[in-house]
Formats: sequence, structure tokens, C-alpha cells
Amino acid sequence: MYGLIKTIHVITALISIGGFVLRGIWMLRDSPMLQQRWVKIVPHVNDTLLLASAITLAVMMSLSPMTQGWLMAKIVALLAYIALGMVALKPGRARSVRIGAWLAALLCFAYIVAVAVTKSPWLIS
Ligand code: HEM
Repeated sequence: MYGLIKTIHVITALISIGGFVLRGIWMLRDSPMLQQRWVKIVPHVNDTLLLASAITLAVMMSLSPMTQGWLMAKIVALLAYIALGMVALKPGRARSVRIGAWLAALLCFAYIVAVAVTKSPWLIS
């Protein structure tokens, strides 16, 4: 069961970053694809699954972000990834701001994966 949830967690993480990169490319190209209804809905469904699997894994392992620094680091970086992603993908802001936010969100995601693998907020395993 744990293995299944972890697989769901990793696959939804891959879908999340894949979709985010794709939507970023559409943003750079001013593509109307970004305004499609399903493009706005599917990432929410996937990210909800990503978070639900994350919480399930933590509960199954009896891990708390209050005692596990790496878990807290992942949660904080995930919130930054979401906030920066909203700035990057919502129309209305200057193009330079949106591109900067998109790149910063990609860095956040890379940090989250590195924390997941090393189990350390400082990335030292
Ligand atoms: C974009 C967000 C996230 C990404 C990309 C991500 C990525 C990953 C990856 C790649 C693993 C597998 C690590 C390994 O087996 O070496 C993992 C495991 C895990 N993640 Fe996440 N994660 C994210 C969000 C979260 C959040 C917010 C939490 C906390 C509630 C969390 C909790 C966990 C737990 C508990 C494990 C299992 C660790 C283990 O089996 O030892 N993840 N995550």
C-alpha cells in the first residue's frame, strides 16, 4: 500500500512539473491554449492528488513537519511553487515578472525534489 501511494506521489509530481513547463511555454508564446478550460482544471485535480498522497505518506510513516525539517522545507517550498506559479500563469502582469516567477517556481520544484531525495532541507544526505 505504501509503495502504491508513493508511486502516485511521484507520478503526480512528474505530471505537475510537466504541465507547469508546458503552460510556461504557452505563456512565453502567448498561446490561447493557456485559456482553455481543461488546462485550468486538470492541474488542480493533479495537485490535489499530489498533496493528498504527500499527507497520506507522512501519516503512514508517522512523520510530522514539526519534527522533520525536510518535511517542513517541502511544504514551505510547495507553497512558494504554488504562489510563484499563480503569478507566472495568470494574465495581467508584466511579461518580465511572469517569466521571472516561472523560473523561480522551477527552482522551487527542483529544490523540493532534492529535499525529497536527500531528506534534508540543506540537501546533504
Ligand atoms: C511539488 C511537490 C512535491 C514533490 C515534487 C515531491 C517529490 C517526492 C519524491 C520524488 C519522493 C520520493 C523520494 C525517494 O523515494 O527518494 C517523495 C517522497 C515523499 N514525499 Fe514528496 N514531494 C512533494 C510534496 C510533498 C509534500 C508537501 C509532502 C509533505 C506533506 C511530501 C511528503 C513526502 C513523503 C512523506 C515522502 C516519502 C519519503 C520516504 O518514503 O522515505 N511531499 N516526494
